[in-house]
Amino acid sequence: MQPLSDLNSILKEMLAAAGPVTFARFMELALYHPEHGYYERRASRVGKRGDFFTSVSVGPLFGGLWAWQFAEWAAAGRDQPLIWLEAGAHDGRLAADFLMALERQRPDCWERMEYWILEPSVKRRQWQEEALSRWLSKTKWFPNWAALPATGVRGAVFSNELLDAFPVHRLGWSRESAAWFEWGVTWEGGRFDWVRMPGNPPVAAELDNTPPELRAVLPDGFTVDLCPAATIWWEEAARRLRSGWLVAVDYGLTAEQRFAPGRANGTLRAYAGHRLATDLLARPGEQDLTANVDFTALIKAGERMGLRLDIFASQSQFLTRIAAQMWAAGVAWDAVQTRQFQTLIHPEHLGRAFQVLVQRPGAVVSAA
Ligand SMILES: C[S@@+](CC[C@H](N)C(=O)[O-])C[C@H]1O[C@@H](n2cnc3c(N)ncnc32)[C@H](O)[C@@H]1O
Repeated sequence: MQPLSDLNSILKEMLAAAGPVTFARFMELALYHPEHGYYERRASRVGKRGDFFTSVSVGPLFGGLWAWQFAEWAAAGRDQPLIWLEAGAHDGRLAADFLMALERQRPDCWERMEYWILEPSVKRRQWQEEALSRWLSKTKWFPNWAALPATGVRGAVFSNELLDAFPVHRLGWSRESAAWFEWGVTWEGGRFDWVRMPGNPPVAAELDNTPPELRAVLPDGFTVDLCPAATIWWEEAARRLRSGWLVAVDYGLTAEQRFAPGRANGTLRAYAGHRLATDLLARPGEQDLTANVDFTALIKAGERMGLRLDIFASQSQFLTRIAAQMWAAGVAWDAVQTRQFQTLIHPEHLGRAFQVLVQRPGAVVSAA
């Protein structure tokens, strides 16, 4: 029998002492335990040598495209100072790609912008400082929203694959009691296992208006992943955005899509070594856990905070539009950049799975 990892032992003891925990709590510890959490232990989780690819790990072009978009947005407001705030900056790679491209290609925007990073983890901040050593005078870090200056952000608040890494509550449908229960985690027979826990009314409230006709046909155990942490984060971001753009790039669903029959097990996935792992609860801290973002919930949260939908488009549509602007301005790409672009927009790679959501204070609705 393999020796248990440190986090395995910690979780096992916790469950033995206090009984089952919600999956959300388990996921929070698996990913963010200050010492042993998946995202706290090694910078190289993302990319070829890590467990999964993101658009950032495809190459520097992704940051270059977003830098161009930012400069275009900024062009409207001429001499105003502007902030690009990134959350989920991980090892600082996107920030470095963005700053490199902006400095080279868009001096019009470069002089008057600052790069802010929202980073609660001291370790990740250190990785980012190393990656951004050339631009330290341009960059500021904040551990949480409350630490931002009271003037808030004028510019863009951006994240790529941040919200899919927030802990989710997993609600299951009980046919017997015709009610939602919450999936929890227990330690049973030498392994972590699922257990049905009593429903969690504040979290389940989001499913209160599930139509009765749908409830009548849901199979027992049908699972929906809900992420109140993502909605709260989006509201916090909206509160700080004085003017500009609130942007999330992620893979996700609209609320109706989560009831598709093919999603009876929710959208939670685990990755290790670029493969989907079969046991979601195995090896906590050693494999990535991720669930689709609920874009409908984000859009509604933004609207509650006075934001309007500006763009909701596939990554492919959105990046192609930026690329067209760059080409029209005479920017030429080499073969490596062209390949990166094809991967970013290819429907079988990252182009269709990823969506770009942009909300703005007071913006009018526009098609992407
Ligand atoms: C899936 S990775 C994506 C990394 C990077 N954005 C990319 O696209 O390659 C998610 C990152 O978000 C970070 N993260 C999670 N919660 C966060 C929070 N509340 N604030 C800032 N970063 C967070 C994780 O530690 C991890 O580095």
